[in-house]
Amino acid sequence: MPGRIKSREIFEASCRVIPGGVNSPVRAFPGLDMTPLIAVRGEGAVVWDADGHSYIDYCGSWGALILGHAHPAVVKAAEEQLRAGSSFGMATPYELQIVEKIRHHLPSMEKMRFVSSGTEAAMSAIRLARGYTGKDTIVKFEGHYHGHSDGLLVKAGSGVVQINPEASSLGVPADYTRHTVCLPFNDIKTCRDFLRQHDNIAAVILEPIAGNMGLVPAHRDFIMMLREETEKKGTLLIFDEVITGFRVGLKGAQGYYGINPDLTCLGKIIGGGFPAAAFGGSEKIMNSLAPLGGVYQAGTLSGNPVAMRAGLAVLEELEKPGFYEALEKKTELLVEGLRRVSDCVNHIGSMFTPFFGPTEVHHRRVLDQDRYQQLFTHLFQRGVYFAPAAYETNFVSSAHTQEQIEETLYHFQKIKSYFSCVKAAGIPRS
Ligand SMILES: Cc1ncc(COP(=O)(O)O)c(C=O)c1O
Repeated sequence: MPGRIKSREIFEASCRVIPGGVNSPVRAFPGLDMTPLIAVRGEGAVVWDADGHSYIDYCGSWGALILGHAHPAVVKAAEEQLRAGSSFGMATPYELQIVEKIRHHLPSMEKMRFVSSGTEAAMSAIRLARGYTGKDTIVKFEGHYHGHSDGLLVKAGSGVVQINPEASSLGVPADYTRHTVCLPFNDIKTCRDFLRQHDNIAAVILEPIAGNMGLVPAHRDFIMMLREETEKKGTLLIFDEVITGFRVGLKGAQGYYGINPDLTCLGKIIGGGFPAAAFGGSEKIMNSLAPLGGVYQAGTLSGNPVAMRAGLAVLEELEKPGFYEALEKKTELLVEGLRRVSDCVNHIGSMFTPFFGPTEVHHRRVLDQDRYQQLFTHLFQRGVYFAPAAYETNFVSSAHTQEQIEETLYHFQKIKSYFSCVKAAGIPRS
């Protein structure tokens, strides 16, 4: 995209005072030899950069914006609450309202607590699981990302891949990750054996439909096995639905698989584009939290009323009859088009990932950063914004129009020969 002069100036100035110029690593377009998108405005499915260029946005604030940018109902709710007071540090009626709504759709969350980020939700769920079970070990899966709390940064997906996919982050003492065991996703035998052989496991946490190693859903047999084995051992099963909650349907991934986890983490969509997340489960487990129980957890801005009202406005839109059907239909239109170029596209609901490899991606990640980066650059230069890294999932919002999807497909068609070369060359494995 020519003439991104202002964007470059802002980014260079930011780099002098903000590490990497960004407040979250992947925003810096690591590995891509270009100035990242410096966003100034969004409306519907389009985002504008500081130079006035527009992009059809398939990242949607990493999945938070299922209604697209600046949806009128969300703007109205947030504006009203800003005028009525942006934060009280006190209980409000809106927390109760959104909790009732979430409980209705996700009955496994009999009680829940709001926090400000998905990281906090997962971190708090883990502490609660340990406090409740009296056990220490946590099982997670390779390539799954649960935020950046110390104990969960082990072989994680998302931006951690670019630091060191095998290990953790610098600054996390080995003692902190000693109790975290990382197993291969969708590998029934290895995981079943491990769970049967160990008695000190507080929780198994997973993204039931993984969205941080590209989109890789759990195999049904795998997730059933996890439910069975954890139940037998008194280990809690935690679904990290920070991405999938209200994304793959009103009932989330737990509805998709028909499985009730013991604890669920939500984020992104439920805050309507404001910082909000939640974790919850049965009343018995949740009553272990302070002030009722001995597991401490707190937050100055937790349950922030602007975020609660924005989240409520989003959930009301999602509850409208036919919402998910229309969104899925739109996504299918896009995915079908992508498949005409290449069959390497995983897709559930409005989440999709074009892989450079077969669609049957199991526990090993089949991601080729270089080729994805070429694809990203090609689209970006033509005003289409996919997630800027291979391991992130892309999202369609209800605001995307058929014309925008057709425009996206037009640019995809242009790289058909490129995809063919990739197919002929085979799948590179990491
Ligand atoms: C599945 C999952 N869990 C947790 C998180 C962390 O959420 P946050 O970035 O809000 O801390 C993310 C972030 O992308 C996520 O995808």
